[in-house]
Amino acid sequence: MSDERPVLGVIGSGAGGVEQLRAELVEPAQQRGWNVVLTLTPTAASWLEESGELVKLEAAVELPVRVQPRMPDEKSPHPPVACYVVAPASANTVAKLALGLMDNQALTTVCEAIGGQVVPVVVFPRVNAAHARQPAWQRHIDALRAAGVHLVYGDDVWPLAEPRQAPPGRPLPWTAILAAADRAVTSANAR
Ligand SMILES: Cc1cc2nc3c(=O)[nH]c(=O)nc-3n(C[C@H](O)[C@H](O)[C@H](O)COP(=O)(O)O)c2cc1C
Repeated sequence: MSDERPVLGVIGSGAGGVEQLRAELVEPAQQRGWNVVLTLTPTAASWLEESGELVKLEAAVELPVRVQPRMPDEKSPHPPVACYVVAPASANTVAKLALGLMDNQALTTVCEAIGGQVVPVVVFPRVNAAHARQPAWQRHIDALRAAGVHLVYGDDVWPLAEPRQAPPGRPLPWTAILAAADRAVTSANAR
């Protein structure tokens, strides 16, 4: 029997909250009917490996977790996706997506989707107020918006805290992130 579930491409980077990815994004998305495929930046993968969470993520998803690019003669282990969700997106990953830099597997797939203008992309920048005052930051946000990226960003969803001043254990806006993916797919299907 063919698998008719839509595929959600989740991308995790090296930012706070990535340790909650399985419980707060992967499993809830699966419960809503998504087949989740997961790609991590090398930084996120090393953190999650160290904490023991990578093994649990690998068990939670059905296909291999991608970190390294495939070899030229290998097939991609992931099917085409209906939507990408980059969460949490570090300031570094946001900047690279805006500039089109693709020096890891996560950036390669998402940059291609942004340029392809077919598969919707949701990004949650998990940054602090100092990251946002970096002089290039607003240009990165504007570039992603202009390219049609669905940003979960702003005081209404995630007020930015000064470095090391956020309350400990502050939850990421996981519900808003998943809702943005649902909306992005609905509007892409209506085109
Ligand atoms: C404990 C720790 C927490 C971090 N949290 C964040 C964060 O929440 N947001 C962010 O933009 N960068 C954060 N960083 C910095 C990023 O991990 C760093 O810029 C890294 O190069 C990101 O790589 P990636 O975007 O390829 O995953 C953190 C670093 C450490 C060591």
